[in-house]
Amino acid sequence: MSLNTLKIGIVGLGNMSGAILKGLLKAGVLPENVVGIASSPERATLRQAEYDVSCTTLELGKEALSQVDLLLLGVKPFVMPAVLADLEGITLKAEAVVVSVAAGTTLATIGESLPNTAIVRAMPNTPALVGQGFTAMAPNAYVGDAQKTLVASVFEAVGKAVWLEEGQINAFTGLFGSGPAYVFYIMEALVEAGLAEGLPPELVEAGVLQLVKGSALLLETRATTASQLKAEVVTPNGTTAKGLEALASAKVDVALQEAVHQATRRAEELSKNV
Ligand SMILES: NC(=O)c1ccc[n+]([C@@H]2O[C@H](COP(=O)([O-])OP(=O)(O)OC[C@H]3O[C@@H](n4cnc5c(N)ncnc54)[C@H](OP(=O)(O)O)[C@@H]3O)[C@@H](O)[C@H]2O)c1
Repeated sequence: MSLNTLKIGIVGLGNMSGAILKGLLKAGVLPENVVGIASSPERATLRQAEYDVSCTTLELGKEALSQVDLLLLGVKPFVMPAVLADLEGITLKAEAVVVSVAAGTTLATIGESLPNTAIVRAMPNTPALVGQGFTAMAPNAYVGDAQKTLVASVFEAVGKAVWLEEGQINAFTGLFGSGPAYVFYIMEALVEAGLAEGLPPELVEAGVLQLVKGSALLLETRATTASQLKAEVVTPNGTTAKGLEALASAKVDVALQEAVHQATRRAEELSKNV
């Protein structure tokens, strides 16, 4: 199925699913083929004005949702139990696929309310808000090849997307879901370091952004590894060698491994409680 014939329902038009919707509209989904579901009639009116697609509440929108090819669940994890309870008994199209972006809500939990249904659990990250996300998708046993292609095209409208087993979603969350914050943490520290050396604040802020953007683009363009590019910058006993020595003695690599490990463990804990 191509995106310009796709009928899509979105429950919870917040930051993440709103970004996905914008990406989909850019990629060819027709606004008249979208139905948004908000938390109240008042919020539906607001969302309709914001996104220029038809919006209603779950109570009034079930008939419209029964016609969609893809149902995106974009509410917060703590709202999911109520939404899933409201969706129980809904008749979806035989080939419809349900996609949840709710962190921690498992395929089994969603499947309890929507039995015998193709369901994908997805974990996007915040760069999806600017079309540069990295999303993991995990299917349940009912998801077929055509549905996989469709769901991948949805997340490719806001960046890159990969298929994983559900058991790997927590590790993906610990690295790539939380990852933007690690990058911002490092950028923050580099800004502080530049200021400490006496550089002007505006120059340092803009410079650190250009540093990260430029380095990422160089890595992508050269299609090599970060290790290789790092090695190319180092001259024995030069400035970069001194800087890297300081990073190694502070065990920054170990700290980052620990950050990913702790975030992964936390994602596991949260999955058990949702
Ligand atoms: N943001 C991220 O980086 C990110 C990354 C990965 C996964 N996620 C997942 O994405 C989901 C949404 O996160 P978010 O940051 O986009 O949150 P958000 O901006 O708060 O969006 C959730 C939206 O759900 C709507 N809503 C609340 N109750 C509802 C109900 N009963 N029925 C229908 N809609 C309802 C709310 O809008 P109205 O009240 O206006 O209807 C709200 O805007 C979460 O489950 C999160 O785990 C987010």
